[in-house]
Amino acid sequence: MSRIESLLRAMTLEEKLGQLNLVTAGQVATGPIVPGETTQDIRAGLVGGVFNLWGPDVVARTQRLAVEETRLGVPLIFGLDILHGYRTIFPVPLAETGAFDPLLWERTARASALEAACEGIHLSFAPMLDVSRDPRWGRIAEGPGEDPFVGSKFAQAKIRGFQGERLSDRGALAATAKHFCAGGAATAGRDYAAVDVSERMLHEVYLPPFRAAVEAGCAAIMSAFNNVNGVPMTSHDKLLNGYLRRKLDFDGVIMSDYTAVTELVEHGVAADLVEAAALALTAGVDMDMVSGAYLRCLPEALARGLVAEADIDAAVARVLRLKERLGLFDDPYRFATPPAEGVQEAHRQLALDAARRAITLLSNRGILPLAADVRRIAVIGPLADARADMLGPWSAAGAAENCVTILEGLKAALMAFEIIHCAGVSIEGDDESGIEQARALARDVDVVVLCLGESASMSGEAASRATPGLPGKQRQLAERIIATGAPTIALLSCGRPLTAPWLFEQAQAVLATWLLGDMAGRAIADVLTGRFNPCARLAVTWPRDVGQVPIFYASRSTGRPPDANNFYSSKYLDCPVEPQFPFGHGLSFARVTLTNLRINRLEFTLGDEVEARVDARNESEVATEETIFLFLHDVTARVARPLMELKAWAKVALEPGKSKTVAFTLTAESFSFPGDDMEPMFEPGAFDILVGLSADRKNLLTASLRMIST
Ligand code: NOJ
Repeated sequence: MSRIESLLRAMTLEEKLGQLNLVTAGQVATGPIVPGETTQDIRAGLVGGVFNLWGPDVVARTQRLAVEETRLGVPLIFGLDILHGYRTIFPVPLAETGAFDPLLWERTARASALEAACEGIHLSFAPMLDVSRDPRWGRIAEGPGEDPFVGSKFAQAKIRGFQGERLSDRGALAATAKHFCAGGAATAGRDYAAVDVSERMLHEVYLPPFRAAVEAGCAAIMSAFNNVNGVPMTSHDKLLNGYLRRKLDFDGVIMSDYTAVTELVEHGVAADLVEAAALALTAGVDMDMVSGAYLRCLPEALARGLVAEADIDAAVARVLRLKERLGLFDDPYRFATPPAEGVQEAHRQLALDAARRAITLLSNRGILPLAADVRRIAVIGPLADARADMLGPWSAAGAAENCVTILEGLKAALMAFEIIHCAGVSIEGDDESGIEQARALARDVDVVVLCLGESASMSGEAASRATPGLPGKQRQLAERIIATGAPTIALLSCGRPLTAPWLFEQAQAVLATWLLGDMAGRAIADVLTGRFNPCARLAVTWPRDVGQVPIFYASRSTGRPPDANNFYSSKYLDCPVEPQFPFGHGLSFARVTLTNLRINRLEFTLGDEVEARVDARNESEVATEETIFLFLHDVTARVARPLMELKAWAKVALEPGKSKTVAFTLTAESFSFPGDDMEPMFEPGAFDILVGLSADRKNLLTASLRMIST
C-alpha cells in the first residue's frame, strides 16, 4: 500500500479535513484577518498548510508542531505570494513581461524560488496568469498583460523557473497558477466584481495561459474570487472539474482564494456555510484557504448527503501527493540553509538586468539619451525618492531599504553632475504649495527629470482605479514645470498604463518605469544616460482615455470599421479610436527597419510548416535588441476572427549598420481557432501574416497565403 493510501486509512475525518485547511499565520496580512488559534489547531492535526509565514527558524518551529506533536506527523506545506521576488525584488510582472524574454522570466522565478526555499517556503501563489485588458483593474500589474499567447509563454517560463526539474530538488517551489479564471475581465475593472464573458472569450483569451500552465506541469491552481457568467469560480464545477480535471487531466491541487469558500454565501449560490463547503469541494476545490468552512462544515455536509467521503479522500490524496512530490515526508525541514555565498549579489545583478529590460521608452523627441553637455539636472516629483513604492505590490520578504530610488540612482550614475531635487507634490492629495519651489528649481537647470506615478499600494489586489491617470496634483505639477520651458523627461512609476495624453504632447520624453523593484533607480539611470539601450515593449495597449477601455489590439472587426469619411462608422465623437500606444510599442535609441517579408509557400495544408522571413536592419549607430512580432489574420472564417492575433515573436541583436534575417515557423496550431464546441478547428481560406515592431497595423509588413484543405 502506498504511503498516501495508508495515511488515508489511518486518518480520522477531522484529520482529513485538517489536510484541506490552509491557514494564514499573519506575518503579513493579505486579506481580512480571521481570528484563529493556529498553534493549537496545528497540534490537533487540523491544519494542512500555512501561508504568510517565512524565515527558517519560525517555519521549522511551526513545522515541528505538525511533525512531532500530531498523531500522524504529516508535515505542513508552507506557501507565500511570490509574485516578483522573495527577498530580491524584481519588476512587477506586467513590466517584466515587456522584456518579451522567456529566459529572463524563468530566471527571476528561479532566483525567487531559491531564496524562498532556503527560508522554508514550499509553494508560491504564483504565477498570476490573468489576461487583462483593463488598466482600471489594479491586479493587471501582477500578470502578463493583454495577450493569451504571451500569457501562455509567460506561464511556461514561470513554472519552469519555480519548479525546476523536480519539486524535491533544492531551490524548487511548487507553482500555483492563479486566479482561475477570467478575473481580468471584472466588470468595469472593479476587483472581485462579476465577470460576464462569452464561452468563446474564455477559450480564446482567458483559458490558454492556464492550459499552458497545466501542460508545463504546474503543481497547483488557485480558483478566482470572481464569478464567471453567474457561477462563482470557487464552485464552478464545469471549469474546475470539467475543464481542468477532465479535459486537461490536471491532477494537482486546486485551492480556493482567501475566504472564497465562505463567500459563496455572499455570492448568493449557497444558503449556508455547509452548502458553501459542499459546493466548493464537489466542484473540485481541494484546499480551503482561510475560511475554515471545510473543517467546520464538511462533517455536516456529509450528514446531509451533500458530499461523499470519497470526495474528501480524493482531495486529501491530492494534497498529500503534493507534499510527497515536494519531498516533505522525507525531510519536512527541507533546504532550510542559507543560499551559497554570492547568490544574493548575483540576484541583485539579475534584478538590475530585469529592471533595465522592463523600462519602456514611450516617446522621445531627441532628448534621450542625455547629451554630454547636460550638467545640471532637477529631479522633481513625488516618485523621485519613494523607496518603498519601488517595491510595488506583493513584495514578499523584500525590504524598502534594499531599493535604489530614482534620485539615488541618478546621483550615483551622474557623479559629475549637479543634481537638485524636490518632490513638489505628494502622490495623492490636494496640496499644491510645493509647486512653486519645484518651478524655481526647474528654471535653473539643463534638464528636468519628472518622477510621476502611483504608489505601490495603488496596484495589486483591491486597488482598482476608476480614473487611471496621474493621481493627486501631479498633472498640475507637471504642466507648470513644463511651462517653465525646461526640457522635461517624465518617468511614470506605475502598475498600469496611465491615461495622460497631455503629458505625451508636452514632455520631451516619457518612459514607463513601472514598479521596478530593488534596482529601480540604477536601471533608470542606465537608460537615461544611454548606458543601456531600452528594449521593453508594451505587453498591454496604452489607452488615451478611460472611456476606450477595454482596449486591446486583438479586436474583431465590425461591419462598419472606423472610417474618417463615414459618419456612420465605429468611433467616438470625443476621442480617437486609436490607443495612445499600441501593444508592442516601445522605442530604443536605435532605428531598425524591416523589409522583404516572404513566406515559403503561398498555399499550405495541415502538416505543412509555414516559414516567414523578414530582414531587419539597424539604421543607427547604436547596437540594439529588437523585438519583432508576427501576427496572423484569418481573413474569412465562419466565426469572425480578431484582426490580428500574436503567433510568434523573435528578439534580434543588431550591431550598428548591420542586418539579419529573422525566421518564424508556424505550425498548424497557429491557424486553428475554437469551433462551435470550442475544440480547435481549421477552416481553409485566406490568411494574412503581419510582421512588425508593434501592433500598429499601418506599419506592419503583410504577406498572404491560403490554407487549401484540412
Ligand atoms: C488573495 C489574493 O487574491 C491571492 O492572489 C493571494 O494568493 C491570496 N490572497 C493569499 O495571499
